[in-house]
Amino acid sequence: MGKVAVGIVMVCGVAVAAAAAVVVHRRMKKSAKWVKAMEIVKDFEIKCSTPISRLRQVADAMIVEMHAGLASEGGSKLKMLVTYVDSLPTGKEKGLFYALDLGGTNFRVLRLQLGGKGHGIINQQFVEVSIPPSLMTGDSSDALFDFIVAKLAKFIAQEGSDFRPTPDRQRELGFTFSFPVVQTSIASGTLLKWTKGFSINEAVGRDVVAELTKAMERHGLDMRVSALVNDTVGTLAGGRFANNDVVAAVILGTGSNAAYVERASAIPKWHGPLPKSGEMIINMEWGNFKSAHLPLSEYDLELDAESLNPGDQIYEKVMSGMYLGEIVRRVLSWLAQEAAFFGDTVPPKLKVPFILGTPAVSAMHQDTSPDLKMVANHMKDIFEISNTSLKMRKVIVHICSIVATRGARLSAAGVLSIMKKMGRDTVKEGEKRRTVIAMDGGLYEHYTEYRKCLENCLHELLGTEVFKTIVLELSRDGSGIGAAILAASHSKYLGSDD
Ligand code: BGC
Repeated sequence: MGKVAVGIVMVCGVAVAAAAAVVVHRRMKKSAKWVKAMEIVKDFEIKCSTPISRLRQVADAMIVEMHAGLASEGGSKLKMLVTYVDSLPTGKEKGLFYALDLGGTNFRVLRLQLGGKGHGIINQQFVEVSIPPSLMTGDSSDALFDFIVAKLAKFIAQEGSDFRPTPDRQRELGFTFSFPVVQTSIASGTLLKWTKGFSINEAVGRDVVAELTKAMERHGLDMRVSALVNDTVGTLAGGRFANNDVVAAVILGTGSNAAYVERASAIPKWHGPLPKSGEMIINMEWGNFKSAHLPLSEYDLELDAESLNPGDQIYEKVMSGMYLGEIVRRVLSWLAQEAAFFGDTVPPKLKVPFILGTPAVSAMHQDTSPDLKMVANHMKDIFEISNTSLKMRKVIVHICSIVATRGARLSAAGVLSIMKKMGRDTVKEGEKRRTVIAMDGGLYEHYTEYRKCLENCLHELLGTEVFKTIVLELSRDGSGIGAAILAASHSKYLGSDD
């Protein structure tokens, strides 16, 4: 072989070696990035961990706050609001009543015909309307209430003559308003603050029933608000109407909250006359609970800092439907940025706040297909990321699971605190008492893994004997139904039909 040929062979050899070195280097870099990504996920998982011992601390801290909130107005982050509902439906309620259920991006108008003792609900009809986002964060309270009342008026205008009240009567409405309100009577109350993405400053501090009534007057709608209720209270009332063992209600939807039956004598801040029933429904506003025992990661802290209500609703921000998707998005975005999880550049859609909804998290988490097709589709449709490997998709599922598990277990701790406060976390020998908790909200209804995890965790916390006495009962749309039933039990015509 001549010199030239030897030279060529030498050059090729160097070239092959160099190419191999590049491949090895790339692989090492890739595996270093993968290691980094796994470290990030592990760290997140540790920060979100909810061992039983910690959940017990969370429940005990919540009970301390419950006492403080019952002792004085503003005594705790837990508002423990007095609802002026001191007796729950009996099942004998009768007549035609309406409800307006406002608490998220959609609201509902409902008409309910109650048949009286033994007949229950004999007819119901509703419409659901979505609220234009500009009205949820605008600066005019009138604009929001005008929009709502226009739809309510349309609903009424379209109903048949059978539903028209006699000339001496007004239609009566239960107003479910699912934000923190300090009530001054069963049908009045001032808004403390907005939550769940609403922010209309003008309305804060105003009586929301007066706002609604003024809007009805502007639209010439002759209707009386006879009960103002939180969705938890509506759900509790609707649950009790159907089942006498219902003593508490929990909402796990866009936001989260709970209400339960308290002894009136255990509410030091209540200075009114003791109700005949001896009881008062308390709207806990548990979403605003905060404690050093809550497992929070840097993603949660950033989410809070950048939210419309920083520092508020911390418990809600780690367990409710509005936020679970956003937490997952933040983790994925950090993985992309710090560990090039999706390639050398960060896919732009990953940077868009709230682009990932909780329904998508639920679908990805519960994807049972062998190649995680659902995950691949969602990553493509939502984030325009089409290059995910099966290995990456498994990590994504794991992140969804971490977030949902923490949320579900923390909500179980909240339920435990109510059971303890009501003295229903133990069973006395021979006692056959059942405790039913009415549950409502899309998160609870549709996210099966979340619901199962909550129930398993509650079982773990209470032990089998007590857990067997407790039923979590889905009360679909209970909040509107309950508000209409409370409108019936607070009707100004009560007794006039007898
Ligand atoms: C509100 C509560 C409401 C809950 C569930 C929270 O953000 O503060 O009043 O009950 O969401 O809708």
